[in-house]
Amino acid sequence: MKSSLLLGVALWAFVAAAAQSPVVKLDPYNYASQKSFTGRNGAVVSAHPLASQAGVSVLKKGGNAIDAAIATQLALAVVYPAAGNIGGGGFFVAHLSTGENITIDFREKAPQKGHRDMYLDPAGNAVLDKSQNGHLAAGVPGAVAGIFKALKYAKLPLSQLIAPAIELAEKGFVITPSEAESLNDDRPNFIKYNTRPVAFVRDRPWRGGDTLFQPELAQTLKRISEKGQAGFYKGKTAKLLVKEMKRGGGIISRKDLSQYDAKERTPSEFTYKGHQIITMPLPSSGGVLLPMMLKMTERFPIAEYGFHSLKAVQLMTEIERLAYADRAKYLGDPDFYKVPVKELTSEAYISSRLRLYRPDMAGNSQEIQSGIVAKESEETTHLSVADGQGNAVSITTTLNGGYGCYTVVGGAGFLLNNEMDDFSVKPGVPNMYGAVGGEANAIVPGKRMLSSMTPTIVLRNGKPYIVAGTPGGTTITTSVYQTIVNMLDFNMGPDDAVNKPKFHMQWLPDLISVENDFPEETLEGLRKMGYTIKKRGQIGRTEVIRILADGTIEAVGDKRGDDAAEGY
Ligand code: DON
Repeated sequence: MKSSLLLGVALWAFVAAAAQSPVVKLDPYNYASQKSFTGRNGAVVSAHPLASQAGVSVLKKGGNAIDAAIATQLALAVVYPAAGNIGGGGFFVAHLSTGENITIDFREKAPQKGHRDMYLDPAGNAVLDKSQNGHLAAGVPGAVAGIFKALKYAKLPLSQLIAPAIELAEKGFVITPSEAESLNDDRPNFIKYNTRPVAFVRDRPWRGGDTLFQPELAQTLKRISEKGQAGFYKGKTAKLLVKEMKRGGGIISRKDLSQYDAKERTPSEFTYKGHQIITMPLPSSGGVLLPMMLKMTERFPIAEYGFHSLKAVQLMTEIERLAYADRAKYLGDPDFYKVPVKELTSEAYISSRLRLYRPDMAGNSQEIQSGIVAKESEETTHLSVADGQGNAVSITTTLNGGYGCYTVVGGAGFLLNNEMDDFSVKPGVPNMYGAVGGEANAIVPGKRMLSSMTPTIVLRNGKPYIVAGTPGGTTITTSVYQTIVNMLDFNMGPDDAVNKPKFHMQWLPDLISVENDFPEETLEGLRKMGYTIKKRGQIGRTEVIRILADGTIEAVGDKRGDDAAEGY
């Protein structure tokens, strides 16, 4: 199904150049968002058609899923500036055809000059404007280091993987109506939080079909292409970033940049109904909450209850509540805080938590607090990739809010994140997603802030079966949880698993958020049990790939955005 999102004017110059290029065969002036793809050789699903196409172009050149994921991620940094990035961070989860499972943590870190109370005013009140907007909100970016860590599993040189992104930045691409709307909405923020003119602001309002050029970003990408990781963390780019910090009252230093390194971590792995699930460990809260929620779910015959039945939604809501109550207390960067992961995910602890569960009535977040464990001795984006050789990659990457802290590094053309707000800036004070925290997630120099991003791969008989993930702040983990239950228990195909309405409960606030098209009958039943229901526009933008036993690859991009599935 091709739903034409925009009509562009084909510019012969770019197309001619692209035809000569060894890698790029994209038409950035005329493209459409294809929502689903079925094939055998490989597929990429991401938030933007051009990014998905960039990934597929690399697969066609003989690259594997890792090559395609890197090319897609870099292209997203150009064509989806609200969330795609080189100035943010994220998580990479992969299953390799060799059988190996790997994860790479490229989450941002607190700068060395950061400290626990940096967002408190003299009276001790949290100043969320500072943790959410402008220079001081930025953590030390990890995205570029993450790409270089992943490169050892790729087949092609970075220069080929970054080429589509460079061309898209330099020669421009046509923006979609929704991108135009979002750039117009944030115009005042771009003006307020920048010290230099930025590509996203112009005199007239943006309209779908306009071309966005990012020449400074193209130069930065070229430095990365030529100099590797040092092209970002050292030399000219680092200098420009530190100068930007000085102009705007930020604190990221040359040393913060040169010391940043991405980290391979042991995946969070567990089984659910005969499937092996591989997801990101801490500092992703998903690495703890997803096993907790699925292990609780496994104790109930949920398939018999039925999809979106009152019984199933009530059970899953209470499971989400129980898991999120522990998030607030226990979870943080394991390099800085001892998190009792084994205990929290143990069968004994799961049993003790489930004793608090009451079917047929609403739980209460005042009564259900975090458990006691023995001491142990709007914006992000997701991409899913699978190739025909048995490799699969699941990456969620973020600037945190849409366009991060709104600050573009002068002369370097990339947006910085506002990830510092994912720390607990003050115990009990909700961040922009309503999440609360305390000591485990307090700011310490060099520490990574807790995340909800949950890029996940489900294996069946040792081979990739589902590749899934989504943006959505704290709703990420519950959306991935629902996607897995929808597919494994309710036997849904990827299309329904992605597009059917979702719900979310995160302990505090004590309410269930639901998408507008959630079935009214179930909501009525929940209200009668005592639940508070809050409708909201949309929950997440899930990108799912399912690989069938005969090798057929099915990819689906979320209807909620410009998301697109491509393959060949
Ligand atoms: O890492 C996190 O949990 C957040 N920074 C994610 C933000 C997000 O998903 C925003 N997207 N809508």
